[in-house]
Amino acid sequence: MVDIDGIRVCYGDETALDNVSLSIDKNSTCAVIGASGCGKTTLLYALAGIIRPTSGKITIDGDELNGIRKGTSLILQDYGLLPWKNVWDNIAFPLKSRDFKKDEVNARVSSTLKSLGIEEHAKKFPGELSGGQKQRVGIGRAIVLEPDLLLMDEASSALDAITKEHIQDLILSIYKENQITLVMVTHSIEEAVFLGQKIVIMDKGRIKNIMDNPWFGIDDSRDNMEFYKICLQVRRWLNEEA
Ligand SMILES: Nc1ncnc2c1ncn2[C@@H]1O[C@H](COP(=O)(O)OP(=O)(O)OP(=O)(O)O)[C@@H](O)[C@H]1O
Ligand SMILES: [Mg+2]
Repeated sequence: MVDIDGIRVCYGDETALDNVSLSIDKNSTCAVIGASGCGKTTLLYALAGIIRPTSGKITIDGDELNGIRKGTSLILQDYGLLPWKNVWDNIAFPLKSRDFKKDEVNARVSSTLKSLGIEEHAKKFPGELSGGQKQRVGIGRAIVLEPDLLLMDEASSALDAITKEHIQDLILSIYKENQITLVMVTHSIEEAVFLGQKIVIMDKGRIKNIMDNPWFGIDDSRDNMEFYKICLQVRRWLNEEA
């Protein structure tokens, strides 16, 4: 369980998060959506323990967060791949840098490549991959650590519509197959409604609205008119004056 209690984050004179409170159940998903500059990435960095709030606190599974936490993985918007390492080594890197044994590294990298459907690209370097393949490697680097809290910043925003849906399907299947709490930041209303059990709408450093989403986790939800009605509701809230 993630409990954000009245956090404030400032960059110099600018308040990026202003008294933000939010609870996210263990093994649930939460999508955070809002206009550019409203504080989404800042919220994710605070959850990752990279940014310390100036006031308020974050508690994860009962422990107050005061730095980077072992069970948390963060996927950045630019995928964070190392260009001089091939796909296999990019995914192995987080394990090797934490002194995992060779056999364990090999087993985990193999199964991660398999579950992401990129085994055949293991020897390629990031410069030789498509956007969707790079994003899979970025996801691989995070899930190979078997986190209990996975944070994703704009996981599919750089991708075309079809690839975006494939990545969203992949994220949903990773969530369903693992005991994991997922918090994702997105610009896309459809992505928020497809992947967010809870949808948090932010505006200028504050939470404007929170919605429990009945359409979460249904594989063919995008084929259903009701799904788009929820999208319309989220759109209205986003556009509403605070
Ligand atoms: N390192 C920083 N130094 C100073 N100001 C910052 C810094 N990082 C972010 N900000 C400011 O804080 C506010 C929130 O930024 P943040 O990156 O959290 O927004 P965002 O919602 O993720 O936006 P986007 O959708 O464009 O990624 C913005 O006004 C931004 O200019
Ligand atoms: Mg951002």
